[in-house]
Amino acid sequence: MGVQRIDKLLTAMGLCSRREAAAAAKSGAILVDGSPCRDAARKIDPDAQQLTFRGRPVGYQAHVYLMLHKPLGVVSATEDREHKTVLDLLPAEYRARGVFPVGRLDKETSGLLLLTDDGALGHALTSPKRGVRKVYEAKADGVLGEVDVKAFAEGITLRDGTVCRSAELEIRCVQNGISAVSVTVCEGKYHQVRRMLAARGAPVLELMRKAEGAVRLDPVLAPGEWRELTPEELAALRAEAAGNG
Ligand code: URA
Repeated sequence: MGVQRIDKLLTAMGLCSRREAAAAAKSGAILVDGSPCRDAARKIDPDAQQLTFRGRPVGYQAHVYLMLHKPLGVVSATEDREHKTVLDLLPAEYRARGVFPVGRLDKETSGLLLLTDDGALGHALTSPKRGVRKVYEAKADGVLGEVDVKAFAEGITLRDGTVCRSAELEIRCVQNGISAVSVTVCEGKYHQVRRMLAARGAPVLELMRKAEGAVRLDPVLAPGEWRELTPEELAALRAEAAGNG
């Protein structure tokens, strides 16, 4: 990435403001290769030099890519007056970096939510042109069968007349009038899965996203937990965003 001013690096990572960087440098809280650097405007090469800020080594990343196990009751927004948002579940430095959710899950949907501060990738992944596949697991109040699988494949017409693209419905189990299903869609209309199942007479009782493109929700993440994407997951997402997935 080449040389960069220390204060620019620290603010881009959301670690502090420019003014705070200047004060930290003056007080000896910024080290370059282990030696105090009193001038926050000094330029360094973050690939070749080790920057330490307030005792923590700083590894510069141009962008961050996260997966969150979104819990129920939290909104997929960066700010909300009434409800807790997915950003409230992350360390404050991510908000300061401008991290945002890639697409949305309803407040009452749980599961995989990607977040990034890479606007270009976020936009490509949600673009209807790319048609990135999203896999959901749902419990629906009704008995679904082969006729519904066929209707999903042909493209469901929602109750307001909107026609959905072909989607995959897999029936995993039907018990006591409740169907446990998997639904794969390649678009992201408002409340799409809920409305598709409602259109087949089986309103959703529970909904969870399991995968987006090649990225699957890591089963070690409990609701509310998150981790950075691995380089392999990121490479697969980039390929899908570029239309090569
Ligand atoms: N479809 C829905 O109905 N809700 C979601 O949260 C995601 C897809």
